[in-house]
Amino acid sequence: MTTATLFSPLTIRETEFRNRLWVAPMCQYSAEKQDGVPTDWHLAHLGSFASGGVGLIITEATAVTAAGRISPQDLGLYNDEQQAAFTRINALLHEQGTATGIQLAHAGRKASTFRPWADDKGTVPESLGGWQTVAPSAIPFPGYATPVALTVPEIEQIVEDFRVAARRSIDAGFDVIELHAAHGYLMHEFLSPLSNERTDAYGGSLENRARFVLDVVRAVRGEVGEGVPLFVRFSATDWVEQGGWDVEQTTTVAGWARDAGADFFDVSSGGNVTGVKIPVAPLYQVELAAHLRSEGNVPVSAVGLITTAAEAAEVVASGRADAVMMGRQFLRDPHFALRAAHELGVSLDYWPPQYARALFR
Ligand SMILES: Cc1cc2nc3c(=O)[nH]c(=O)nc-3n(C[C@H](O)[C@H](O)[C@H](O)COP(=O)(O)O)c2cc1C
Repeated sequence: MTTATLFSPLTIRETEFRNRLWVAPMCQYSAEKQDGVPTDWHLAHLGSFASGGVGLIITEATAVTAAGRISPQDLGLYNDEQQAAFTRINALLHEQGTATGIQLAHAGRKASTFRPWADDKGTVPESLGGWQTVAPSAIPFPGYATPVALTVPEIEQIVEDFRVAARRSIDAGFDVIELHAAHGYLMHEFLSPLSNERTDAYGGSLENRARFVLDVVRAVRGEVGEGVPLFVRFSATDWVEQGGWDVEQTTTVAGWARDAGADFFDVSSGGNVTGVKIPVAPLYQVELAAHLRSEGNVPVSAVGLITTAAEAAEVVASGRADAVMMGRQFLRDPHFALRAAHELGVSLDYWPPQYARALFR
């Protein structure tokens, strides 16, 4: 493995990614009519990454039911209008040669919140278009409304919602499905003992806390067939000393998820508890990804404060991850992948011809 490995192709099931520099999922909180439908903003936003040469774009957290949206302005994929809008976006992204993935999500106790730039914070009240949130247990996230604990039939219904959204994702043209099991949203809430105090088959032991995630993995794999890459994004730790979700449990559950039909793990951290000390620094989550890769023997991507071409290339060349995702760096510079290849001395045959003159002064 060398510096250039970042720009070598990777194949998972029937999808070939042209390189290993990928766009991390990033919510835009910009559905205009609060109907979960992607707009021209999403087309331009995602389109710029595609023309900028990335290997995969994962769309923002996209809810499998209206109640699973993080904010009223979040995207969803549970009706035909949403599906049609995603189909149009996928056509543009594919024309630019990138693979596309959708992050399917349910926000659980962190649903129905004001978008980040709103004057108000916390849970949107029902009088302003918010809704009652749900979770494994009736434990509120600090500063948010208390959720209602899900019944078993309700849990089974959400598994079904993921299955149906996965079908819509494939029909809309996505190459990859990623399940959002990170950042304190519903799947992570089931996994962590800090948010799951259930005493039934979905709480208690690691097997029980992992049941919901694994049920969704199996349902989605059963729906999409054998060709489609299925990713899971985990928070690999709650960053608490004891009694929380940690990298050992994540590694075990990643192995179970692989056996249940998942292919690839996008390793993030945090989001389920407040007041913890997170050692935020360049590349701070890379060792978590490397742990899953070496101890769990699963392919992974690393994400989190990886901002330069040299850092991304080194993460892959050192074998700590199979791919790198970046978030904010792509917001600063949507064509960062082209620039990174140029900096690393890798020539790409997919530089858009419309932009070829930028290669020369
Ligand atoms: C504007 C914004 C929106 C985000 N939305 C999501 C999301 O929808 N799903 C998710 O899993 N992570 C989300 N994240 C986290 C990113 O995917 C990424 O993990 C994080 O920003 C760290 O990577 P970075 O340092 O390269 O930005 C978001 C981050 C940003 C900056």
